[in-house]
Amino acid sequence: MNQRQIFLQHVAQTSPAPLALEIVKASGVTLTDKSGREYIDLIAGISVCNVGHCHPRVVKAIRQQTSQYLHLLVYGEFIETPQVQYAKLLTDHLPDSLNCVYFTNSGAEAVEGAMKLAKRVTGRTTIIAFNQSYHGSTQGALSIIGDEYWRNAFRPLLPGILHMQYNDFSMIDSIDHNVACVILETVQAERGIFAPSKEWLSALRKRCSEVGTLLIMDEIQTGFGRTGHLWGFEAFGIVPDIILLGKALGGGMPLGAFITDKKLMDALTDKPVLGHITTFGGHPVCCAAGMAAMKVLLKEDLIEKVAAKEVLFRQLLQHPAIRVVRSRGLLIAVEFDTAETCKRIIDRCIENGVLTDWFLFAANCLRIAPPLTISKKEIKRTCEVLLHAMGNV
Ligand SMILES: Cc1ncc(COP(=O)(O)O)c(C=O)c1O
Repeated sequence: MNQRQIFLQHVAQTSPAPLALEIVKASGVTLTDKSGREYIDLIAGISVCNVGHCHPRVVKAIRQQTSQYLHLLVYGEFIETPQVQYAKLLTDHLPDSLNCVYFTNSGAEAVEGAMKLAKRVTGRTTIIAFNQSYHGSTQGALSIIGDEYWRNAFRPLLPGILHMQYNDFSMIDSIDHNVACVILETVQAERGIFAPSKEWLSALRKRCSEVGTLLIMDEIQTGFGRTGHLWGFEAFGIVPDIILLGKALGGGMPLGAFITDKKLMDALTDKPVLGHITTFGGHPVCCAAGMAAMKVLLKEDLIEKVAAKEVLFRQLLQHPAIRVVRSRGLLIAVEFDTAETCKRIIDRCIENGVLTDWFLFAANCLRIAPPLTISKKEIKRTCEVLLHAMGNV
């Protein structure tokens, strides 16, 4: 059996049509396959590699930490330097009320922890989530996912979940004293990049505060400079009660987190004690990598350059096949008339050395979410390939 056959036979598959590229090296915005072919990466591991693949500082931090220690004990028992320092760095760059970090292994686990915390803090059980939102694939996260196609096969799921229309003022009054939390993506990514209005988010914030409902914002795709701000919510002039982080948080290593006020977080330590526990959450190597990546992000002024790169993509992407381009920083969706058209274009892009894909709830949209380190030259080259792929579709 060759490697491809073993992959298909012995590695669990998630779809009948995996990309199945065999990448042997990744550096900056470039992936190299085993035949030496290079691809410009417009996916960045789904908004993970914001500082580029294998940034030397991230790799160095991993090497250093592996020479000290790997796993020591379950999360929360020992004082582990990478965890402590990363929690400090994160909270130093967040509003005062977001001052306590619970590290997990993944985004979905951050979602799970935050949902539990909201129930525990408020003593309520109803959760409001939104149609066309994605929050992960575990049972709690799946319960709040905003699409019945993905939910239905796995019922029964969590009770007490209400799905509402995103960016819709008429849902605001549904937030009452029974609602533990409202959970939303700051920008709905897998819907094909839909940002809410400032006014709606303000109204949501106001109503949550009035009735004591926690506002949870999922920054798992929008965090770490992706939208041109360190945190996506900064553009909207509000502060959530809990934020969820993942993806770029680990700088290419698996890491998630939910962050809130210590006064709320402490609810997980009592009645029951150990209210939320994890063996590997906040793994020291992942925290060391994530902290190095965040320092690179801040030091190399990558965030400041996002807006100009977004503009360049938008200027260059002019083609009759494009219905609309929606973007928030370097989180860009290029919409075509059908999923088939989009798929044809994606296939041609990959054939021509640009790696892209579609969105979970928007198969007619092509994803542009490269490492934030992408240069103007690389953007121009990428857009040439994209336009060529659109050709005479
Ligand atoms: C917005 C959002 N929330 C949560 C998740 C779940 O993260 P993970 O796959 O690390 O569990 C994802 C993953 O794509 C996501 O995009």
